[in-house]
Amino acid sequence: MTEWTNDAAIQRWGAMPRTVLEQTALDGDFAKRHLINPVLLRMLGDLTERRVLDAGCGNGYLSRILAGRGATVVGVEPGQSLFDFAVEQETTAPQGIRYIQADLCDLPNLGGPFDAVVASMVLPAIPDWIGAMRACVHALKPGGLFLFTVNHPCYEQLWPTWREHGEYRTHRYLTEYEIPGPNGVDFHRTLSTYLNQVTRLGCHLTELAEPGLDPDATAHGPDGIDAYVHLPNFLIIAARRTT
Ligand SMILES: C[S@@+](CC[C@H](N)C(=O)[O-])C[C@H]1O[C@@H](n2cnc3c(N)ncnc32)[C@H](O)[C@@H]1O
Repeated sequence: MTEWTNDAAIQRWGAMPRTVLEQTALDGDFAKRHLINPVLLRMLGDLTERRVLDAGCGNGYLSRILAGRGATVVGVEPGQSLFDFAVEQETTAPQGIRYIQADLCDLPNLGGPFDAVVASMVLPAIPDWIGAMRACVHALKPGGLFLFTVNHPCYEQLWPTWREHGEYRTHRYLTEYEIPGPNGVDFHRTLSTYLNQVTRLGCHLTELAEPGLDPDATAHGPDGIDAYVHLPNFLIIAARRTT
């Protein structure tokens, strides 16, 4: 596997074209709309006057949803085109979101601890993911909620293999490997790797979710999306900082 640095990975993500940023500006893509966002929002609960960090906020769609629900939001995003787009949206329609361009492993002062930190589909994108997870946990108040989402490590290539073979196929799980995508690179890590690290950092797990797609939603999705009815493509982890 190529030796990736955080900077090299950020360069790739930060070249995301404007067309993609615009298409996903409202609520992310199909999978986020149907599978991830509803679970994250349920887990976060009432956001009125809560301070929330959107760690690796991308184009800022989740930051905008959270601010719309009453949260005071800080969005951290290092990638240039994503950061510029998020700031532009805030300038056009201000919601009081503060965007900071930074690597999670090298954060400036974010203005005090948070009630909740959300890192949606971010840790798999970071070579030094342990440093990034540590920063997310350290940004929390004691008792604060840490939510992170990843492609389910057991069903990572679900959609492409289902379309090709009519079933899910995989041939390796136990080692870390690269998953190149059209707009950036992700890294496969095992389920236990993520879960053990979050507990090692002083959190206790409160919920794991493996959302399945409502069969009625398949009519509005791309070809092969019925895979998501039968197998979970995402894992959503809720943990609380204990100290
Ligand atoms: C798959 S995108 C997810 C973005 C957003 N959270 C969402 O749900 O659409 C991965 C994001 O992680 C960001 N990222 C990559 N390396 C990072 C780092 N070291 N610190 C913070 N964010 C990083 C990328 O720039 C990109 O915005």
